[in-house]
Amino acid sequence: MIRLHINIDHVATIRNARGTPYPDPVVAASLCELAGADGITAHLREDRRHVRDDDLRRLRATLTTVLNLEMAATDEMTAIAESVHPDVVTLVPERREERTTERGLDVIAERARIEKVVAMCRKNGIKVSLFIDPAHEAVRVSRELGVDQIELHTGAYAETRGQLRQAELARLTEAARFARGLGLEVAAGHGLTRDNVLAIARIPEVEELNIGHSVIADAIFVGIDRAVRDLRAAVERGRRGTA
Ligand code: PXP
Repeated sequence: MIRLHINIDHVATIRNARGTPYPDPVVAASLCELAGADGITAHLREDRRHVRDDDLRRLRATLTTVLNLEMAATDEMTAIAESVHPDVVTLVPERREERTTERGLDVIAERARIEKVVAMCRKNGIKVSLFIDPAHEAVRVSRELGVDQIELHTGAYAETRGQLRQAELARLTEAARFARGLGLEVAAGHGLTRDNVLAIARIPEVEELNIGHSVIADAIFVGIDRAVRDLRAAVERGRRGTA
């Protein structure tokens, strides 16, 4: 079965909007696990606009599945990851002014910084994933960097329609196949919803999905338990090709 990781950042976004203690992303994470999520993803941003350091520590103490920490390859984040010890570190690019993570890592320009994080993760037995665009060169360099997994950025797929979307789907399919052939595990994420996830789940090499904004948005209307279960059902339909 494909692994479904729920990103709980946007529960924290709602909490932070008012500076209240609620809604607590750690409670949301537990409910996601009860609804069948295989892991929880959280992005500690430099400006702490989503989860905060203390949320991470509480997630680490309470999760029964997998904690996937998304972070930039900076010294500050590397030190935090070493002390929190998530199961997975996913390296993402970060620009303060962006609304969300708009593109994949530039694995060539960031090579030295990525190597430092990989070394820390190796020492501590933490799995490493790189969030990259579906491009051969990025996959190839990721393999050279010795990481365990790549996460393919599905943002361009999610944002386009028609032929452009089909072209992006072909790029994702091709990159997933290439990565798997090099021995990398393949995840995918960004902008995925109950509807558009079907075609991504159908790519046989994709073993993990990281989904946040749309499922937390659904949870506002139908509750988090149902939102996660509906998403899981959609993923399984996609995988079986019965959509
Ligand atoms: N995967 C990665 C690496 C991300 O940075 C994000 C956004 O934080 C997601 C998945 C989830 O994206 P979305 O919130 O659009 O589902």
